[in-house]
Amino acid sequence: MKTLIRNGTVVNATGRGLADVLIDGEKIAAVLAPGANLLGFDVAANVDRVIDARGKYVIPGGIDAHTHMEMPFGGTQASDTFETGTRAAAWGGTTSIVDFVVQYAGENVLDQYQKWQQKAAGECAIDYGFHQILSDVQDTSLTAMDELVDEGVSSFKLFMAYKGVFLSDDGQIVKAMQRAATNGSMIMMHAENGSVIDLLVQQAVAAGNTSPVYHGVTRPWQAEEEATHRAIMLANLTGAPLYIVHVSAKQAVDQIAQARDTGQNVFGETCPQYLYLSLEDNLGAPGFEGAKWVCSTPLRAKAEGHQHHMWQSLRTNDIQMVSTDHCPFCMKGQKDLGLTDFSKIPNGIGSVEHRMDLLYQGVVDGKISLERWVEVCSTTPARMFGMYGQKGVIAPGADGDVVVYDPKGHTSIGVEQTHHMNMDYSAWEGYEIDGHVDTVISRGKVVIDDFAYLGTKGDGRFIKRGLSQYLI
Ligand code: URP
Ligand code: ZN
Ligand code: ZN
Ligand code: ZN
Repeated sequence: MKTLIRNGTVVNATGRGLADVLIDGEKIAAVLAPGANLLGFDVAANVDRVIDARGKYVIPGGIDAHTHMEMPFGGTQASDTFETGTRAAAWGGTTSIVDFVVQYAGENVLDQYQKWQQKAAGECAIDYGFHQILSDVQDTSLTAMDELVDEGVSSFKLFMAYKGVFLSDDGQIVKAMQRAATNGSMIMMHAENGSVIDLLVQQAVAAGNTSPVYHGVTRPWQAEEEATHRAIMLANLTGAPLYIVHVSAKQAVDQIAQARDTGQNVFGETCPQYLYLSLEDNLGAPGFEGAKWVCSTPLRAKAEGHQHHMWQSLRTNDIQMVSTDHCPFCMKGQKDLGLTDFSKIPNGIGSVEHRMDLLYQGVVDGKISLERWVEVCSTTPARMFGMYGQKGVIAPGADGDVVVYDPKGHTSIGVEQTHHMNMDYSAWEGYEIDGHVDTVISRGKVVIDDFAYLGTKGDGRFIKRGLSQYLI
């Protein structure tokens, strides 16, 4: 199957230009000036499909490096399966995800890894990789880290919060970091001071402060800044590269920026919710509504200026990339577990379908450039997590993961209108997007076109990742 995307503006992280893109089988075969006689043969007679992208952007497929499909968490399970969640991702112009294998304390890491491989096999609409979560760090976990790197799982997430569920103590964190420093893998950190948060939560509930807004109040920015600083120091001690996930506090951004200024391999990820949503407008909504936006780290107070700082840090590369932390729960039967106690609300927001559109608004509003949009949503995730060349770029030899994005199109987000995630509400209800994902090609196969899903479950393949290509 040969597909030619004609007359579009090809946008890579490094620049843009009018070009034709030829995809042959699963790979990009050529990127040439428009109308050029590709590969010396009559194009029209030799390709199976021509897509006219005049006036549109042709970008590398989005890579969402932080998702939790069907994750058991908070007394329930994330509502998107690998099937529904990856299909929704495709609708939104994302052609790869990196999800998390969960290991709870006492479980064997490699057994868990095999379970997650089985969960995802044959289910996904787009390509997928895995990070491995480590909670207690057993001796067998350390040897498993080496084995997993060889398997293409080159990043390990640790938690400084969620005691009794995920939390690793500082000694366990250092052990994992020491191993990462020797095998070249990346340590990802959920950086919040869990003991302090647990205390504040207990005190709030005891005082009768049980509504969703207290989720944010009991996870103050100081708990994020402190843990971010501690993680950076432990990484400094051990020499491990460190990637802080879901950064929401401007003070945590400043810790990351300071570490980077000293040449330390420290990186930061933020999520659309921290760029747009707030404690006042969302988490603090009347009644139980705020439960829709309970996630950790929490939405922060608009009055404190985090959002503006986060956009700014995306411009200056103090924050390197944007993932969703997609971890959806329905209001009915899931979020409502915490109807009378916010601490029982399962933590997570679903956005896997909307990341490309939401970040494109930053281009529309003049906050980031077109190239930076591609960089934070595709190219850097590919480099950060060892997929670049195969993913994250429109160039000969790369996988044919391509999105045709129409800047003149329009997308209304809402649970009724456009949303394909398995959720009974949208965290983005009513958002009107300038721009539209027109066509999505995943390894050479058109999976979204003309408002239709054309793929089948199992199209997606496991991505065997290498070591990070982003280290200083
Ligand atoms: O609220 C969140 N972030 N849920 C998913 C688990 C995590 O910490 O990433
Ligand atoms: Zn986390
Ligand atoms: Zn997460
Ligand atoms: Zn359109």
